[in-house]
Amino acid sequence: TELSKIRNFSIVAHIDHGKSTLADRLIQSTGTVQDRDMKEQLLDAMDIERERGITIKANTVRIDYVADDGEHYVLNLIDTPGHVDFAYEVSRSMRAVEGSLLVVDSTQGVEAQTLANVYQAIDADHEIVPVLNKIDLPAADCARVAEQIEDVIGIDATDAIQVSAKTGIGIKETLEAIVTRLPAPTGTRDAPLKAMLVDSWYDAYLGVIVLVRIMDGVLKKGDQIKMMQTGARYGVERIGVFRPPMQVVDELGPGEIGFITASIKQVRDTKVGDTITHEKKGSETALPGFKPSVPVVFCGLFPVDSSEFEDLRNAIEKLALNDASFSYEMETSAALGFGFRCGFLGLLHLEVIRDRIEREYNIELITTAPSVVYHVYAKDGEMQELHNPADMPDLSTIDHLEEPRIKATILVPDDFLGDVLKLCQDRRGIQLDLSYAGSRAMVVYDLPLNEVVFDFYDRLKSVTKGYASFDYQMIGYRTDNLVKMSVLVNDEPVDALSTMVHRDRAEQRGRAMCEKLKDLIPRHMFKIPIQAAIGGKVIARETLSALRKDVTAKCYGGDASRKRKLLDKQKAGKKKMRQFGRVEIPQEAFISALKMD
Ligand code: GTP
Repeated sequence: TELSKIRNFSIVAHIDHGKSTLADRLIQSTGTVQDRDMKEQLLDAMDIERERGITIKANTVRIDYVADDGEHYVLNLIDTPGHVDFAYEVSRSMRAVEGSLLVVDSTQGVEAQTLANVYQAIDADHEIVPVLNKIDLPAADCARVAEQIEDVIGIDATDAIQVSAKTGIGIKETLEAIVTRLPAPTGTRDAPLKAMLVDSWYDAYLGVIVLVRIMDGVLKKGDQIKMMQTGARYGVERIGVFRPPMQVVDELGPGEIGFITASIKQVRDTKVGDTITHEKKGSETALPGFKPSVPVVFCGLFPVDSSEFEDLRNAIEKLALNDASFSYEMETSAALGFGFRCGFLGLLHLEVIRDRIEREYNIELITTAPSVVYHVYAKDGEMQELHNPADMPDLSTIDHLEEPRIKATILVPDDFLGDVLKLCQDRRGIQLDLSYAGSRAMVVYDLPLNEVVFDFYDRLKSVTKGYASFDYQMIGYRTDNLVKMSVLVNDEPVDALSTMVHRDRAEQRGRAMCEKLKDLIPRHMFKIPIQAAIGGKVIARETLSALRKDVTAKCYGGDASRKRKLLDKQKAGKKKMRQFGRVEIPQEAFISALKMD
C-alpha cells in the first residue's frame, strides 16, 4: 500500500468510556467483518478480559475504507491496554502509530486513565482527535467536556467529534477525521528493514505470533530475520494482517502493521520494543527506547492442597509462555510448603494471573502478601534486591533500605476530596499538586508503592463511592526507615505473613494484624498466643482463648446424620486449612490479615 493511503492510529480512553464499542463500530461500518460474524466485543479476545471489561493484550485490526475523496485507505487500529499496570505496553503500541482518537465519555468527562494515556500519546508525537462519546444519553454535556479537555489536557477540542458508538452517530465523521486529520506514516522501501516488535502472544496452533510495525524496508515470507536486542534469528513462515481474522499477505512494507510467525517457541524470546531486521544487509541501528518491562510486585502462590504442586507448576509454565512480563521461581515456605514466588507488573496483573490459575486450571491457591522490590544495602555497601520479606538478611548486616515510590494521580469529585487526602496521608504520601477541573479535584501524590499494593484501590473506591479514578507511574527509589515485621502464631513464625513496614507504623500494623488473626484463626483446644515482632522484639500481642466443647457436643445423641453432616462440614473446612505447628490457620486468614482498615 502507498504510504499516503495508510493511517495508523490507536484509541485512548478511560475504562468504560467506550473504546471497544467504538472500535467495533469502526470495523463494522466499513464492512471489514460481516455483521453476522460480529461478536459483541471483537477486540477483547480472552474471556477473562471480557468479564473484567478490560483489554490486556494489545490487538490490532486492518480496516479498508473508501473516503469521501473517493480514495481507498487502509486504516490500522492498534488496541492498547487501558490499565496502568501495562503502561509500558501502551507506550510501545503508541510508538507504532501516528495518531490517536481520544475518547471521552460525554456524560463523565476526563478521568485519570484518560490523562495517563493521552500523555503517552502526546509523548509519542501523535496527532490527537478528541471524540466525545455517548451523546445519545440525556446526561451528555459536550460543551462542558470539550472545555475540560482543553483545560486539563491542553489540546484543542473545538473540532471534537460528537459520537454515539452505541447508535452509530458520528462514526462516518470519525472515519473521515482519521483520514483527513491524522498524518500518513513515513518510511523508505529501499532502506534496510527496521520493524518494531509491538506485541507477541502464544497461539496453540501457530506458536508465537509477533505483531510488527514496519518502519523501513520490506518484510517477506521466507526472509531470515534477527532480533536486534536478543540476537535471536528466525526464518519467517507466515506474514499476515488481522481483519480481525488472520489473513495471509505476501509482504509488509513501510508504514504497515501486521503479524509474522517464525517457529518461535516462547513469548520470552520476543521482547516488546525490540527491533527486527534482516539477518543479512540488516539495519545497523535499532529503534530508540528499548526497555524491557520489569515486575514490580511479587507474591508467593502456593497450592492449598500440597499434592497439586505439579499442577500449579504446569499452569504457571503455560501462563508464562504467553506473558513475558510475568516471572516466577520456585519457593519453599516452612509454613506453606512448595510454591512459587511470582513477579507481576502490578496488582491487576497479579489478580488476573491468580484468577486464571484458579479458574482455568482449577487449583485453589494461597496468595501471600504482595510485596514490592526493596533495595537492601549491606554495611559493606553492596546492594541486593529483596523480592520476599522472608529473605530479609539479618538486621545487623544492613546499612539501609530503599523502597520504590510512585507518582499517583487521582481525580475525584470535590465532596470526597477530604477522604482522599486523608487516605494518601495515611499511606505516607507527600502531596505534589492539587488543582481543579470543574467540580472535580486532581490530586497528585508521591506515595510508597508498598502502601499501594495491597488494598489502596479498594480503599479509594470505598471512600469515594467509586467516583475516583486513579493512575500511577514509578518514580524511583528512596531510603526510609523500613523493617521486617514477623508474625508468630503459638510461638511459631508464619513466614507467609511477614511484611515490610515503615518503623513508625509497625506497632499499629502489628496490633491490627494480631487482632485480625485472632478473629480469623478458629479456637483450638489450647490457648494460642498471636504476636507481631521486629527482630526478636514483640511489638503486639493477642491471645486466642481455648475452646472447651467439641463441635458435635451440642447435637442430641441420637441424630447420627446431623452429626455426620457437621463432621463433613468440618472436614471440608479443613481442606482450606494449613497446619502451623499445632495450629490450623484458614486460607482466608492470609489474605484478610493483610488488608488494613
Ligand atoms: P474497557 O474495555 O473496559 O477499557 O472499556 P471500553 O472503554 O472499551 O468501554 P466499552 O466499549 O466496553 O463500553 C463501556 C460501556 O459503555 C458498555 O456498557 C457500552 O455498551 C457502553 N457504551 C459505549 N458507547 C456508548 C454510547 O455511545 N452510548 C451509550 N449509551 N453507551 C455506550
